[in-house]
Amino acid sequence: MRPRPRAMPFSLPVSANPAIPEDVPLHQPSFSHDDGLGILHSALPLEEKLRQIHRHVQQALPFLDRISVVSYEPLTDKLKTFLHSSDQDSPLSFYESTLAQSRSLMEIATLQRPRVINDMEALVRDASRQHTRRIAGGYGASYTMPVKQNGELYGFLFFNSRQKWVFDAQALRYLNMLGHQLSLMVSNELSCLRTLGASVRTVTQIAQFRDFETGAHLERMAHYSRIIARELAPRCQRDDAFVEYLYLFAPLHDIGKIAIPDAILLKPGRLEAEEFAVMQQHTVKGAEIVDTMLDNFGIRGMAHADMLRNIVLHHHETVDGTGYPHRLKGEDIPLEARIVTVADVFDALTSRRPYKEPWTPETTFRFLQEMAGSKFDRDCVDALVRHEAEVLAIRQRFAEDYLG
Ligand code: C2E
Ligand code: SIN
Ligand code: SIN
Ligand code: FE
Ligand code: FE
Repeated sequence: MRPRPRAMPFSLPVSANPAIPEDVPLHQPSFSHDDGLGILHSALPLEEKLRQIHRHVQQALPFLDRISVVSYEPLTDKLKTFLHSSDQDSPLSFYESTLAQSRSLMEIATLQRPRVINDMEALVRDASRQHTRRIAGGYGASYTMPVKQNGELYGFLFFNSRQKWVFDAQALRYLNMLGHQLSLMVSNELSCLRTLGASVRTVTQIAQFRDFETGAHLERMAHYSRIIARELAPRCQRDDAFVEYLYLFAPLHDIGKIAIPDAILLKPGRLEAEEFAVMQQHTVKGAEIVDTMLDNFGIRGMAHADMLRNIVLHHHETVDGTGYPHRLKGEDIPLEARIVTVADVFDALTSRRPYKEPWTPETTFRFLQEMAGSKFDRDCVDALVRHEAEVLAIRQRFAEDYLG
C-alpha cells in the first residue's frame, strides 16, 4: 500500500513566513514585512533570482531541494537544462534530449497540466520511462509545470525534492502560484533569446554570401567553444545558459569581416602591414554591427547581450596584452572572448585559408600549448586538449564538403 502524503508542519499563508514575527499585533493597522519575492522584479540575472527565491521558498517548504528550468527549442525539438538553483554540482546539469523522446513531458505540454510525482523510484521501475530514469538522479519527488506563453511552449519548470511524498495539496497550491510567476519571467527571457537567436542566424547566413568563412568553420568553432565553456563554466561561476549563449553567439565572431574589402579579405598571400591594419578593424566594425542589431531588436539591455558584443570585439585580444583592438590583458579579457579565441584559432590553423595550408591537429594542439599563458588562456587551451577525441569527431562531422 502507498504511504499517504504526510501532513505539512506549517500552515500557509501567513505563519509560514518567518519574516513575520509571531508577536506582531494583528490589530496594528500596518506593518512592513520582508517581501521575499520582490527579487522577481529586480535586474539580477535569472539564475541568481532563482537561487534567492529557492532560499525564500525553503523557509516554508524545507524539503524543496532544487528548482530548475529546462528550455525548449522548437526548431530542433531540443530540451536543455537552462537554469537551476542548487549550488552543488547537479546530476541533471547539461541534460539534453528532445521533447519527442519524452512521453511524459509531451503530455504535460499538450494537456497544459502540471505533473506531480511523489515517488520517483516507483516510476523509474517502469522500464519504458527512459528519460524519467535519467532525470530521477537522486530525487524522490518532483513537481513539473509547462512554461507557456501565448500558446507557445518555452520549456518546463521542475521543483524537486530528495524526499518522497512531500508534495501535498497545500505545498502544490503554493508552488503553483510561484510557478506561474517564475514561468512569466522565464518565458520573457526565453522569448528574447529566440528573437536574438533568429537574428544571429539571419546575419550569419547573410554573411556567407561574402564567402570568407564556410558554414562548416562556423559549426566547428561553435562546437569547440562549447566544449571549452562546459568545462570552465562551473569553475568560473557560469551557468548552463552561459554555455548555450556562447554556442549561439560564437559563429558571429567575424561578422565584421563583411565590412572588409575583397582585395584584403580574399588576398591569396600574406597581408602587408597596412592591409593587416585594415583587417584588424573587423573587430570594431563587428561590434558596431552587433550594436545596430541589438538596437533594431530593442534588446540591447538583455541579459547576455554583452557576451555577444564581447566575443565580436575581443576575440583577437591575447592574454599578454599584445592583441587587438584594445590590448586587454589576462582576465581583463572577458571569459567568453578567451574561449572563442582558442576555438577560432584551432579551427583557422587546421583549415585551408587563401593564404595558408591546413596544419594537422597534433601540430595545432602543440602550438596552442606552447602559446598558452602568453597568447592564449591556459585553462581554455587545456580544456580543448583534454577533449581531443571529441574535437576530432567534430572535425569529421563538419568536414569542409559538408556545408562549406
Ligand atoms: P582567420 O583566417 O580566421 O584567422 C584567425 C586567427 O587564427 C588569426 O588571427 C591568427 O591568430 C590565427 N591564425 C590563422 N592562420 C595562422 C597562421 O598561419 N599562423 C599563425 N601563427 N596563426 C594563424 P589574426 O592573425 O589576427 O588574423 C585575423 C584575420 O586576418 C584572419 O582570420 C584572416 O582573415 C586575416 N589574415 C591574417 N593574416 C593573413 C594573411 O597573411 N593573409 C591573408 N590573406 N589574410 C590574413
Ligand atoms: C520524462 O518523464 O520522460 C522526462 C523527465 C520527467 O519529466 O521527469
Ligand atoms: C577564469 O577565467 O578562469 C575565471 C575568471 C572569469 O570568470 O573571468
Ligand atoms: Fe576574427
Ligand atoms: Fe573565424
